Amino acid sequence: MPEIKACLFDLDGVIVDTARYHYRAWKQLANDIGFDITEEDNERLKGVSRMRSLDIILEIGGVELDQKTKVKLAEMKNLRYVEDISLMDKTEILPGVEQFIQELKDSGIKVGLGSASKNSTMILEKINMLHYFDCIVDGNKIENAKPDPEVFLKGAAELNMSPENCAVFEDAIAGIEAARNAGMVCIGIGSETTLQNADLVISSFGGITWQIIKEKINNL
Ligand code: BG6
Ligand code: MG
Repeated sequence: MPEIKACLFDLDGVIVDTARYHYRAWKQLANDIGFDITEEDNERLKGVSRMRSLDIILEIGGVELDQKTKVKLAEMKNLRYVEDISLMDKTEILPGVEQFIQELKDSGIKVGLGSASKNSTMILEKINMLHYFDCIVDGNKIENAKPDPEVFLKGAAELNMSPENCAVFEDAIAGIEAARNAGMVCIGIGSETTLQNADLVISSFGGITWQIIKEKINNL
């Protein structure tokens, strides 16, 4: 197994739990149009781009709209979402992840962000974690959404790393596919059943050190 010299992190669901804010804003939008969405529907939106999420929601409501209206609705949803995330602070960082990233920095491992979100910089600023990242590749920089490997390949390129020297931390099925397509080791954060295509899965960063992950990767 090649040596891991860089770690690329997804944001939503790995560093912060923003899914509930996305859900609240999408639910409000669906209600405005005249239907409802459930928490189960929300699972389908994880890791998926903003416009693709809207398409999934409209499909659930059985609603067809022209492109111009869809762009407007996505903007409306984002305004509501940004209202919520503008109130975020350090208390919303998921357990253990900041300590884990600090340990990577102390060990000389490069740290990058690979997220579909166009709000990633704002969120990292709000939770005071922007300074940890040697590169940020997010929805503003990419053409092709996960499971396309673009987001992670760009991250590796920005860090001057070969893909085989990078590990990805992801909570979404599409993100795990993207990491695999990029030829990178992939660590799933969440349930083993959902994330069965990851190289290894941890339920959270609670109690997890880089030493533990490095050993698990070496044993793959
Ligand atoms: C992903 C989230 O990280 O970013 C998705 O998991 C979200 O739920 C996507 O739709 C795009 O985010 P944003 O902030 O640009 O609307
Ligand atoms: Mg995610």
